[in-house]
Amino acid sequence: MEDRIITSEELEEDKIENIRPLKLSEYIGQTEVKENIEVFIKSALIREEALDHVLLYGPPGLGKTTLAAIIANELGTNFKTASGPSIEKSGDLAAILSTLEPNDVLFIDEIHRMPRFIEEILYPAMEDFTLDIIIGGEGSSRSIKIDLPPFTLVGATTRAGDLSSPLRDRFGIISKLNYYTEEELTQIAKRTSKVLNIDIDDEAAIEVAKRSRGTPRICNRLIKRIRDFALVEGKSCIDKDITNKALTKLKVDKLGLDETDYHLLRAIIEKFNGGPVGIDALASSIGEEATTIEDVYEPYLLQNGFLKRTNRGRMATEKAYEHLGIKRQGTLF
Ligand SMILES: Nc1ncnc2c1ncn2[C@@H]1O[C@H](COP(=O)(O)OP(=O)(O)O)[C@@H](O)[C@H]1O
Ligand SMILES: [Mg+2]
Repeated sequence: MEDRIITSEELEEDKIENIRPLKLSEYIGQTEVKENIEVFIKSALIREEALDHVLLYGPPGLGKTTLAAIIANELGTNFKTASGPSIEKSGDLAAILSTLEPNDVLFIDEIHRMPRFIEEILYPAMEDFTLDIIIGGEGSSRSIKIDLPPFTLVGATTRAGDLSSPLRDRFGIISKLNYYTEEELTQIAKRTSKVLNIDIDDEAAIEVAKRSRGTPRICNRLIKRIRDFALVEGKSCIDKDITNKALTKLKVDKLGLDETDYHLLRAIIEKFNGGPVGIDALASSIGEEATTIEDVYEPYLLQNGFLKRTNRGRMATEKAYEHLGIKRQGTLF
């Protein structure tokens, strides 16, 4: 599949440019989470102790990695990173833990994808700052205990429900990130334009915000592409005209829906008479994996009332019919 411009998944290009805010004061929105974390950081600094372990969860692109890096920055410690699936052997985890200095932040992304036996090694590390590892092979193996410096584990996950409860219970601070409001995304659009050295007017920033699916990562990506159109047309400021033009070319509609969304909603409406349709039947009808639909395609459609999940399957809503300009056949309402 070609990369969707409005996907909330991290694409290669997202990793290159650094438009990430570095301080809590530059982190827009998520007010409650931010205010609480600020207090916990200040308290840890006063106590000169490691901050409690933090679990950040929420959909992709909402700022989990960014916030984790900010936490380390505000604590004035190192920021070490790893990801759940990349820790395959106990030695991988031991290698990462052995590089930690007192009060460092260890960030584990996609922590729900860590193998269960690795999780078990992590428990004493989180709780007592000790590492129990078994060395040697068959017959001659013995267990050794290594002391670790106090550290803060920051875990990120898109699926808090997939985390085992013993692991979840070892986090002292658990914060959920929510989709951003239009106002917050407008601020992010302005901030990102500034970092990219291009002006943006208010109207354009609001327009981008409306089409960003509540997600800063998408907002930033749209800004970059609109900037490209603006530069090529010799404009020094992103205005509403160039925004509309660019987003039309990129096939992102007024509410941030793209061809993939249309394809999915059309399938439900046209092939299944609006639903309900089971996820597997829907998946095979559009040639996609059921999990891709669940994790990538439908969250925004559900969140914004285009799609409804019932126990008999997915249904297109009145809003979906209206938005696609399709008249409902043999209405039940
Ligand atoms: N609160 C925020 N304020 C400003 N920019 C943000 C904020 N949250 C995220 N971003 C931007 O969105 C992008 C995606 O954030 P990221 O932390 O990678 O999301 P996640 O780890 O949750 O998938 C980052 O490049 C960052 O610049
Ligand atoms: Mg991330």
